[in-house]
Amino acid sequence: MGEFLTIREIDQAVHAIRARIKIQPEVGMILGSGLGPMAETIEDAVIIPTDQIPNWPISTVVGHEGRLVIGRLEGVMVLVLQGRAHFYEGYDIGRVTLPVRVMQRLGCDKLVVTNAAGAINPEFVPGELMLITDHLNLIGMGGVNPLKGPNLDEFGPRFPDMSQPYDREFLDMARVACDDADMTYREGVYASLSGPSFESPAELRFLRGIGADAVGMSTVPEVIVARHGGMRVLGVSGISNKANLDGSTITTHEEVLEAGQVLVPKLTTLIRGFLAKL
Ligand code: HPA
Repeated sequence: MGEFLTIREIDQAVHAIRARIKIQPEVGMILGSGLGPMAETIEDAVIIPTDQIPNWPISTVVGHEGRLVIGRLEGVMVLVLQGRAHFYEGYDIGRVTLPVRVMQRLGCDKLVVTNAAGAINPEFVPGELMLITDHLNLIGMGGVNPLKGPNLDEFGPRFPDMSQPYDREFLDMARVACDDADMTYREGVYASLSGPSFESPAELRFLRGIGADAVGMSTVPEVIVARHGGMRVLGVSGISNKANLDGSTITTHEEVLEAGQVLVPKLTTLIRGFLAKL
């Protein structure tokens, strides 16, 4: 496997999945740290461990199960990735986004992407959902973009537009889904860093200054590849911890996973409500 993803590598993974499913998925979903249990409510589920799929980037992180769950949710055919791989695990950034390419080749034209994130906005508290309205591609600004390398013309153009990374109509549907369930939510800008070290207080104050409301180590590369391939995207952060802008508290992966337990029921309500409106 080279540095850049090829159509051949993508299709090897696609064939392995197609051989095991009968349905045509419409919505791809990626569940972030501690959020995997959301997939337990999927009906008629076919489960494929991702280590059985060629070229798949395997997640090594606790809280990431490493399974594809394909089935029906609210009458919609979904293909759900429980447990993503991250750039900090050592994969090239293109490989991190292979699952999104595979979803596209399988016919998914919509992506629901979730993550656990630290709250930079001082009003946000752990256990809240944040609808992602826009993002800051900080690792991209550092030159690490999943579209680097030969353009895959089959999917999209060399210079894809990024004026609407998160679909405005999907955002409205998600707002209504929350309102219908009497569930409060936040909205904001997600900043993506490579990790795995959490941010220093000065970095967090910098992020606040440039307009970030939440920070994490994923999602943006996947969204860029999704938009390149013409998918419409809904992005949701589960606020798992308060980022520590003054250095007075510490951040741990354990607290991120713990917040997942509060977040999963809320996320399930939001996503079911959203899917029901599709
Ligand atoms: N920083 C970066 N990534 C994260 C955080 C955080 O505070 N919480 C969950 N993912």
